[in-house]
Amino acid sequence: MSAFATTAVHGGTSNPDSHGALRAPVYDSVAFEHPDARSMQLTFEGKKPAHAYSRITNPTVSDFEQRISSLCGGGLVIAVSSGMAAISNTIVALGGADTNIVTSRNLFGNTLSLFEKTLAPWGLETRCVDMTDPGAVAGAIDDKTRAVFFESMTNPQLEVADCTVIAEICHDKGVPLVLDNTVMTPYLFDCKKAGVAIEVISSTKYISGGATTLGGVIIDHRTFNWNNAPRLAERAVKFGPMAFISSLRQEVYRNLGACMAPHTAYLHTLGLETLEMRIEKSCANAMAIAHFLNDHPGVRMVHYPGLESSTFHAISSRQFHGRHGGLLTFDLESREACFALIDALQLIRRATNVNDNKSLVIHPASTIFAEYSEEEKEAMAVWPTTIRLSVGIEDCDDIIADLASALHSLSHIR
Ligand SMILES: Cc1ncc(COP(=O)(O)O)c(C=O)c1O
Repeated sequence: MSAFATTAVHGGTSNPDSHGALRAPVYDSVAFEHPDARSMQLTFEGKKPAHAYSRITNPTVSDFEQRISSLCGGGLVIAVSSGMAAISNTIVALGGADTNIVTSRNLFGNTLSLFEKTLAPWGLETRCVDMTDPGAVAGAIDDKTRAVFFESMTNPQLEVADCTVIAEICHDKGVPLVLDNTVMTPYLFDCKKAGVAIEVISSTKYISGGATTLGGVIIDHRTFNWNNAPRLAERAVKFGPMAFISSLRQEVYRNLGACMAPHTAYLHTLGLETLEMRIEKSCANAMAIAHFLNDHPGVRMVHYPGLESSTFHAISSRQFHGRHGGLLTFDLESREACFALIDALQLIRRATNVNDNKSLVIHPASTIFAEYSEEEKEAMAVWPTTIRLSVGIEDCDDIIADLASALHSLSHIR
């Protein structure tokens, strides 16, 4: 099976259900019984593939992990409790005191906060560079760099860096490239092909099938030699290509405890099955809405890589097979105008999520980025005049009509 939609529906190696159920049941159990003491010992030593305790493995979660693996060229997968758990587990497993990660200031706000506020006191330095400048990325890497991290399309700046070029730099320097592929998902971007070492995804977004539950995924694409990762070098001798994933399963992921709930795994498996259809609809809607807003006299500027005027149009077209995702941002004349437009919307919901089935709107500068000063927001390209729209799968004409009516109601505000 190679086609995405077929694998999304049938992929993975689920054990046949004893009742023949086509949809695997939810194993809502904390602990699993062992036939004898020796089996118990072997399971704990990792020598017998059996489930022991759901913070470490669970049959429903394993099914979801295998489905993701089958969609990602056989990558090694661990499902976690949220996108932030995927990022924090990964960086904690790779970094440490007196080391650094090279990243961009154009990141999801909580990710930057994790790096610069939560992990900094533990001795991890965050080096922010312009990811669209390969020379700057190469120049920032030194012998204490434990990862390069960026987003396939940044949220909310919608910047697109050339992933293959950065992957080559990382390869030459012997540093793993960690890519947050939340906004594009494996459907629009094949991380393995691009040379990414670790892909992290907030499955809360597109994969959950409509904002049902929080979840995250970590995928080791087996493109990196873990002998070159100082934290994992010892483990690499014993586990070879499994070094990173075993370090998570047997240490970091197990000890941090941010595991995926079985019911979440059930819902996200269901979500995967319709992922392609939903992404196609949301990308097509976003493209039409970007053109509508671009042509509207009340809108100062639209940022969407699908527009030919976008700086990132060429790289986005090449990297994401001509689709440009379901997120766009646009600028009005003032913050007051942004608030008034948001208040005037009737169909589009005021909520902080992306890639829901519903179209959602937010003013990032006063919400997700509220913890940052005006200067810091400017450095992150988060402007007071910007609205973010996550385009859902509704009928496009209805979303446009809602925006048109809200924009009309603003004619008196500047
Ligand atoms: C690009 C990106 N990465 C990570 C996250 C965090 O995901 P979660 O809310 O599932 O922790 C988000 C959330 O919006 C995001 O947009």
